[in-house]
Amino acid sequence: MMKGHYYITTPIYYINDVPHIGHAYTTIAADIMARYKRLCGYEVFFLTGTDEHGQKAQKAAMEQNISPKELADKMVTRFVELWKVLNISNTGFIRTTEERHKKVVQHIFQKVYEKGDIYLGEYEDWYCIYCESFYTELQLLDGRCPDCHRAPQRLKEESYFFRLSAYTDRLLQFLEENKTFVLPEIRYNEVLSFVKGGLKDLSVSRTSLDWGIPVPFNEKHIIYVWFDALTNYLTGIGFLEDENTFNSFWPCDAHLIGKDILRFHAVYWPIFLMSYGLQPPKQIFAHGWWTIEGQKMSKSLGNVVDPHDVVREYGVDEFRFFLFREVPFGLDGDFSKKAITHRINGDLANDLGNLLSRTVTMIERYTGGKIDYPQKKTGTDELTERLILDLIELYKKEMDVFAFYRALQRVFEITAHLNRYIDSEAPWKLAKEDTPRLKTVLFNLWNGLRIVGFLLYPFMPEKSNALWRALGIRKTIEETNFSDNERFYRMDDLAPIVRIQPLFPRIKEE
Ligand code: MSP
Repeated sequence: MMKGHYYITTPIYYINDVPHIGHAYTTIAADIMARYKRLCGYEVFFLTGTDEHGQKAQKAAMEQNISPKELADKMVTRFVELWKVLNISNTGFIRTTEERHKKVVQHIFQKVYEKGDIYLGEYEDWYCIYCESFYTELQLLDGRCPDCHRAPQRLKEESYFFRLSAYTDRLLQFLEENKTFVLPEIRYNEVLSFVKGGLKDLSVSRTSLDWGIPVPFNEKHIIYVWFDALTNYLTGIGFLEDENTFNSFWPCDAHLIGKDILRFHAVYWPIFLMSYGLQPPKQIFAHGWWTIEGQKMSKSLGNVVDPHDVVREYGVDEFRFFLFREVPFGLDGDFSKKAITHRINGDLANDLGNLLSRTVTMIERYTGGKIDYPQKKTGTDELTERLILDLIELYKKEMDVFAFYRALQRVFEITAHLNRYIDSEAPWKLAKEDTPRLKTVLFNLWNGLRIVGFLLYPFMPEKSNALWRALGIRKTIEETNFSDNERFYRMDDLAPIVRIQPLFPRIKEE
């Protein structure tokens, strides 16, 4: 049954800030993919973690009068705890302050240096502390950081450089040969044109900083935070420690990131790996950003969304669902109370919830809570069966390319179809006039809902299992997989199917 290995990662999050909806978004996306791949039969390694070094962390710790490590220890629990609340099924967690990570970063730095791809030079440019990035005069916007618009400072220091320029052609060739290396396509094109412009050598150490991993052969220098951070993807699966696990999961199948950190992942990271002699990851998916009620989310505006609040108000699965049903994954989206309420009341309470309530009520009332084999089929029944079985293939195609929005759209076309099927076939009439067909219709509804629940599982793990329980299914969805579910069948050992409380209570609109 095992199909092979699948490795997916989230960015590792900075610990100078509390987790918000943006962090939740990337992590839930990775969780959806991880759960989906498990249902497909893969052994999944799902890595997330925290990025604990660098100037930002150091600054935040100073402001609180504690050491950066103390700050990290405090903040990391906030992330770990939020991932529990959001039902994140990660199999690994990495902190860049761990000893195992330091070893890996220093080892790679050393090897790349010995190879001649790192050399000592001097760096002078505009530096944004907040973004931990240097910018050239040309890149600044009105003298400010092009990313966060804060004022940069002029910085000059001795620095080790990575010979990025020597890899321009190799990376270009790699990109030409791997057109889906970066998704969505618009991000691929962005990367391609950046690389075509030619790459400048990259400063990969700092002497003006002490919170980080020292260069192994010159302890005055601290390794650049992005060199340190990207390497987490190797440490996290046992590089240098557990050869078996590492070899089973590298190259990584997918790095999920936000569009703001694309260049680090799609340009620097594959080149570091090429230089060291490891294969680049197979794919990078860069998603869009959320605004809040039409505005950029920011501390100064005081509109930072704490995922705990959303979960308390709307439910975990409703939150997870909303993020991927509302906006195509890859584009920017706007989070608002009105939008999430609308989605819950529309798709979940009205369409799916009602479909389930109607179906189980009829199964209880007309066939004593049992499912029978179809005895008589009409064209409508056959069409319904075909649409549902086709749905599975269409859904997989979309999921495989992170088109979560389209996958959900397909599923909800089917719930709409099934609601219409009840209206047009009117089982309450069939109960009086045509019991063989009644059995067929209920059989199809039961199977349709079972498959819909199965396909919604990666998005809503708890509600989907509740849906299965309502259908009398004794197994959990985690105990099954695609090949168990890709057909219509009848189950003998169903638990009694009885009328239920609404799976998705309606939310009062403000
Ligand atoms: N530490 C680096 C990543 C290193 S990975 C080797 C970092 N951390 S972060 O905490 O600032 O951001 C992590 C992720 O959160 C990014 O993918 C970013 O796109 C995402 N988001 C932060 N704010 C966001 C929104 N408002 N909307 C959606 N995602 C956003 O970058």
